[in-house]
Amino acid sequence: MTTVNGGSYMHVTSRLSSQFSSNEDDVLDVSSATNSIHEAISQESWYQQTLSVVVVGASGDLAKKKTYPSLLKLFEENLLPADGIIYGYARSRKSHEEFRRHLLPHLKKTGTNEIIVKDFLSKCYYHSGKTYGDKSAYADMIGDGLVPFEESTKNTVSNRLFYLAVPPDVFGESGVVIKTHGMSTTGWTRVVIEKPFGQDLESCDALLQTLSENFEEHHLYRIDHYLGKEIVQNMLMFRFSNSFWEPIWNSDTIESVVITFKEPFGTDGRGGYFDKYGIIRDILQNHLLQVATLFAMEPPKNEDADAIRDAKVEVLKSMEILSLQDCLLGQYDGYSDDPTITNKDTNCPTYAAIRCKINNPRWKGVPFILQAGKAMDEKVCDIQVRFKPAKSFPSMRRSSKNFLENAPAEMVMRLQPDPCISLNLNIKSPGFSTMPTRGNMVMRYEDMPNLSNPDAYTRLLLDVIRGKQGSFVRDDELRFSWQIFTPLLHAIDDTKVRPLPYRFGSSGPANREAWMAETTKSVLPLQASL
Ligand code: NDP
Ligand code: BG6
Repeated sequence: MTTVNGGSYMHVTSRLSSQFSSNEDDVLDVSSATNSIHEAISQESWYQQTLSVVVVGASGDLAKKKTYPSLLKLFEENLLPADGIIYGYARSRKSHEEFRRHLLPHLKKTGTNEIIVKDFLSKCYYHSGKTYGDKSAYADMIGDGLVPFEESTKNTVSNRLFYLAVPPDVFGESGVVIKTHGMSTTGWTRVVIEKPFGQDLESCDALLQTLSENFEEHHLYRIDHYLGKEIVQNMLMFRFSNSFWEPIWNSDTIESVVITFKEPFGTDGRGGYFDKYGIIRDILQNHLLQVATLFAMEPPKNEDADAIRDAKVEVLKSMEILSLQDCLLGQYDGYSDDPTITNKDTNCPTYAAIRCKINNPRWKGVPFILQAGKAMDEKVCDIQVRFKPAKSFPSMRRSSKNFLENAPAEMVMRLQPDPCISLNLNIKSPGFSTMPTRGNMVMRYEDMPNLSNPDAYTRLLLDVIRGKQGSFVRDDELRFSWQIFTPLLHAIDDTKVRPLPYRFGSSGPANREAWMAETTKSVLPLQASL
């Protein structure tokens, strides 16, 4: 039997198997891709070393809903080193047991077997401090918690991962104390930083400065969880490994690109945070812009993290700076009734549609619309690509009176729910008729057998541990994105422009469709059916 870290592969395979199937025959069915990733990981050096994780802000919303469930998933799949410990740090006072009880319901929700949850919780500890820069609290947590554990494992290398699940105001002080008290002396130290990274270019620069005084870029993993979603992770493969896309993935063939995020709920108890940031900083400047850059970028020189991020940066450099004229803003009725919003006259947008222009040879003249809204009619996030109409096909012209006028083909890449890619095309009506009709070709992930589709945070945490920075936001990328958005954000704050009202649960402000049609120069509503 092959052993790993004193444990055994027998244990590894039995945990992996339980993940996919209860039946031994079916275990053989698990996709070879999944097996090979586990195989590759078990050969990587970190897997044989000790890993200490510190979740900073462990008492908060993100930690319980995403960070710990994702760590549990990695643990369940045997994708964490055998020798590992997870410390939660925050200001709230709790014992280790109280903290475990606080996490338990959220871990149960993942559907993971109770024995595995219990096993996982036995590796979770908690430490509180007065502030997020509390040196003595950090010294105690590291000196009495991490170090004795790391020394007990007998591995010569111990790596440390700090996850900053705290509001951005305390990123700076957290970074300073990690640098002075938290760095591993035998292995790597990596720091995951949540969004929003600043509020505008100036505050982003201040944060970059504080962190760069303490860390080098290879230490820092600025997380944007949209980069961990399946469709987004698939973008490079989809675009560049199918040769027919490249000749048409440009302004010759593509008329417009609309990237949409909609949520059917409002601020949901996060009004205090949201009112300070608004929908543009919460979703557009990061999640949707990241998706847009991957969609629009030139082929990277290679698949290295830096080559991919270089290509994304080139797109940002070609984008025009945004102003109020480029956007439509909305606020849902009743938004300021949220008791955590103190400014009842707030002009904070909860919906925004923004026309972006990418002035490079590939995209000149193609509108890229990014739109996002809270309290809307559905939960969806997708990329709608509208192709230009065919110029001269007689059947289409003949049919124009009783069919869609020269209906263009569309492609929809749906990130959520139910990730899929769909092409909506003109085809001949079946049978004797020569009239056109619409045909739909759909690739749904849910139809794929034995699919393991882990949550975005789970994938990205694994990338951090493996040292893969390609799906994290680099400092220059971040600065360019704030450069594009800051004038617009300041104009909204300074002019006190009133967003247009919309009904909770609706599709946005009344003139949304007209704005969209005008902006995309499209006579048909953009809406491919899936
Ligand atoms: P919380 O508001 O829940 O804050 C996390 C913890 O930080 C709290 O439990 C609290 O712990 C401490 N804290 C809260 N406010 C302050 C403050 N003003 N000063 C110092 N400490 C404070 O945030 P979330 O967990 O929702 O988010 C954490 C980070 O993740 C943020 O940057 C957020 O933007 C980002 N994020 C969150 C998402 C979510 O779904 N929640 C999604 C994507 C990103 P204590 O009082 O015990 O110290
Ligand atoms: C977060 C935003 O970054 O993303 C939230 O702060 C939003 O406001 C969330 O609800 C949406 O994430 P997802 O993965 O549910 O689409």
